[in-house]
Amino acid sequence: MPSNSADVHLDVQLGRLRLANPITVASGTFGYGREMAGLVDVSRLGGILPKTITQQPRAGNPPPRTVETTGGMLNSIGLDNDGVEEFIQRQLPYLASLGTAVIVSIAGKTREEYVRLASRLNDAAGISALELNLSCPNVTGGVDFGTNPAMCEQVVRGVREGCRYPILAKLTPNVTSIVEIARAAEAGGADALSLVNTCLGMAVHWRKRRPVLGNVLGGLSGPAIKPIALRIVYQVAAAVRIPLVGIGGIATIDDVMEFLVTGATAVQIGTANFYNPTVSMQILDALPAALAELGATSVAEVVGTLGK
Ligand SMILES: Cc1cc2nc3c(=O)[nH]c(=O)nc-3n(C[C@H](O)[C@H](O)[C@H](O)COP(=O)(O)O)c2cc1C
Repeated sequence: MPSNSADVHLDVQLGRLRLANPITVASGTFGYGREMAGLVDVSRLGGILPKTITQQPRAGNPPPRTVETTGGMLNSIGLDNDGVEEFIQRQLPYLASLGTAVIVSIAGKTREEYVRLASRLNDAAGISALELNLSCPNVTGGVDFGTNPAMCEQVVRGVREGCRYPILAKLTPNVTSIVEIARAAEAGGADALSLVNTCLGMAVHWRKRRPVLGNVLGGLSGPAIKPIALRIVYQVAAAVRIPLVGIGGIATIDDVMEFLVTGATAVQIGTANFYNPTVSMQILDALPAALAELGATSVAEVVGTLGK
C-alpha cells in the first residue's frame, strides 16, 4: 500500500492517447473552454472535450432546449455549432493553449461527412484525439450510427483509415444491445469507447397538454442516468479489449471510483459542471487519496477490479 497519496500515479492510457489523469469534461457541457477558464484551472484536467462540431454550421433545435428533471436534466440542443472552419480558426487555438489534451468531438450525417471532417482536422494543430459522436439523440435527418452495428463499424473504420489521431467512439445508451455496437466500434478500429451519451426522454406540461421541449424529445443526463451508465460500462468491459471512458451522472469522487472499478479507465464529467463548475477540481483533489485507500499506486491498478 502506498504510504501516502502523493505516491499515486494518475496518468492513464486510452489506446494511443495518454492523459495526465483520468478526469476529463464531457462534450457540450464545458463550451469551448473560455466560459469555464475563469473558474477552473483547465490545465489540471486530463482532457477537455469541446462541444461537438459538424461540417456546416447548425442552428440546433427550437427553444426551449433544456429543462430540469428529477435527478438530472433534459436537453435538445441539437448540435448547435458554428461548423468546422470556424472551430479551427476561432476555438482551436485557444483550446490548444490551455495545457490539457484537446479531444475534438465530431458528428456527421453520413459516413463521408465523418471522414471528411476527420481528415480536415488532420492538418490542424493542437488536437490530441477525436471523439466520434455516434449518438446524439437530438438530430433528425441523419442515420443514427450508434444504433446499427454494421454502420457503426463502417464509420469508425472510415475515419480510422484517413485520420492520424487516436479515436474514441461515443455510444448511445438508447439501444437494445450495447455490446454489439461496442464490439462493432472496436472492430472498426476505435482506440477507446466513450460510454455514454444521454438517454432519450421527455417532459410534459400537463395543464397546457404540451411537451416542455421545443423538440418534444430530449436527452436525459445527470445523476439520474448514473446506474444506466455503470451497467453499460460493466457489460461492455466484459465484451471488448479496448479501454472505456465512463460518462453519466458523475458528480463526486465516489462516482468516479465506481466507474473505475467497474471498468472505465477514464471519465468525463458532464451535467455536474453546470451546477458545480469546480466539480472537476474537487474530484482531482480527492483522487489520489481515494486510490490510495484501495492500496493502489496507479489508476490502472483499480480499473475493472470489481468482484462479485
Ligand atoms: C446541455 C448538454 C449538451 C450536450 N451536448 C453534447 C454534444 O454536443 N456532444 C456530445 O457528444 N454529447 C453532448 N452531451 C452529452 C454529454 O457529453 C454526456 O454524454 C451526457 O450528458 C451524460 O453525462 P452527464 O450525466 O455527466 O451529463 C450534452 C449534454 C448536455 C447536458
